[in-house]
Amino acid sequence: MKRNILITGGAGFIGSHVVRLMVNRYPDYHIVNLDLLTYAGNLANLKDIEHKPNYTFVKADIADLDRMRQVMKEYEIDGVIHLAAESHVDRSIKNPFAFARTNVMGTLSLLQAAREYWESLPEKYAGKRFYHVSTDEVYGSLALTHPDGIEAGATTKASAKGHTAYGTEFFVETSKYDPHSPYSASKASSDHFVRAYHDTYGMPVVVTNCSNNYGPYQFPEKLIPLFINNIRNGKELPVYGKGENVRDWLFVEDHARAIDLIFHSGKTAETYNIGGFNEWKNIDLIKVIIKTVDRMLGNPEGHSLGLIRYVTDRPGHDSRYAIDSRKLRDELGWEPSLQFEEGIEKTVRWYLDNQEWIDNITSGAYEKYYEDMYANR
Ligand code: NAD
Ligand code: TYD
Repeated sequence: MKRNILITGGAGFIGSHVVRLMVNRYPDYHIVNLDLLTYAGNLANLKDIEHKPNYTFVKADIADLDRMRQVMKEYEIDGVIHLAAESHVDRSIKNPFAFARTNVMGTLSLLQAAREYWESLPEKYAGKRFYHVSTDEVYGSLALTHPDGIEAGATTKASAKGHTAYGTEFFVETSKYDPHSPYSASKASSDHFVRAYHDTYGMPVVVTNCSNNYGPYQFPEKLIPLFINNIRNGKELPVYGKGENVRDWLFVEDHARAIDLIFHSGKTAETYNIGGFNEWKNIDLIKVIIKTVDRMLGNPEGHSLGLIRYVTDRPGHDSRYAIDSRKLRDELGWEPSLQFEEGIEKTVRWYLDNQEWIDNITSGAYEKYYEDMYANR
């Protein structure tokens, strides 16, 4: 079937994996990647597919309502997968307004443009879908009741083979919203607008809340790529607080597969949580990264452990995130495909093999390149 899908934020980390998957997997779809190319957007993430006939890039701001109206009409969009966002918690602490503008007003503009366009068509919302990509951070923070970890199944219901849990509670689709950072507050607000557009106007929406992603093409301000790059350069590794916060890590391609599945088969107006049953205490994860990078660089074991620096904690730092993704598994048959050991091995290898990609970002050279390249679009 022919479809015209608008993917926002497709030049970013997760978006680029979603764009690549959709462009390669659905040659009959026209994939329109709309991205403002902020500091986090990088067209080098999509070099391998940029000349495919079913792919178009549009540089635009999701908060520009008139432009969103124009894009919906021009490309006759029948499905939206919305990932564009300001995404880094530390930046949100420094500049919360940018997060309200993009994540709240941007999402609202996109919803409104989709609504106006779809309502203007004879078939209206039939065959349409607005997929909003959100985060588990909207649910707030879970208690760290087992600081040394327990095997799931012992005292938790959300068990998965080999899963170490750090508490007995998990985020489920009905968990109360309780955001703590300006980032998660802005994402929570956008989620509410998306659901309100379903309840008020009948917009066929679906929302997913995913745990922390890792893998190739992640901007090197986030923990895993930042630390891989710092170890390579012999730079300090700033561990917030005591390094005891827990995150649930999912390989980015598994998230992209889940998005594809839910976009096509998820139920309208439903929420699905996506996670890997893969909880790690930051300090333990950091030690795995150090070990892997040192081994790949041919350094003796333990060589880079001395780079660890415990620094002042992030204000409002959530202590534990852990997703129960059994609804997605039971209803749609999704499972993460990679074990963490395999995923981290692939990830470290990718960053070490793609030093030019990371050096371009850290030097700011790519921003200038794309500014010039798209100045007249
Ligand atoms: P990212 O920061 O790597 O990419 C965001 C992209 O959005 C960039 O390409 C940027 O240029 C673009 N963008 C920003 N503002 C824009 C605007 N006003 N108009 C158009 N484009 C704009 O983010 P990511 O990590 O890939 O996250 C993508 C989405 O997934 C976000 O909505 C985020 O909240 C969500 N999410 C991320 C994670 C994670 O671990 N990274 C986990 C769960 C959910
Ligand atoms: P991050 O990758 O920023 O994702 P999020 O805050 O959305 O979970 O951070 C992951 C964890 O690592 C989080 O608990 C904060 C911590 N962290 C550090 O200890 N040092 C760092 O330099 C960064 C960027 C994060």
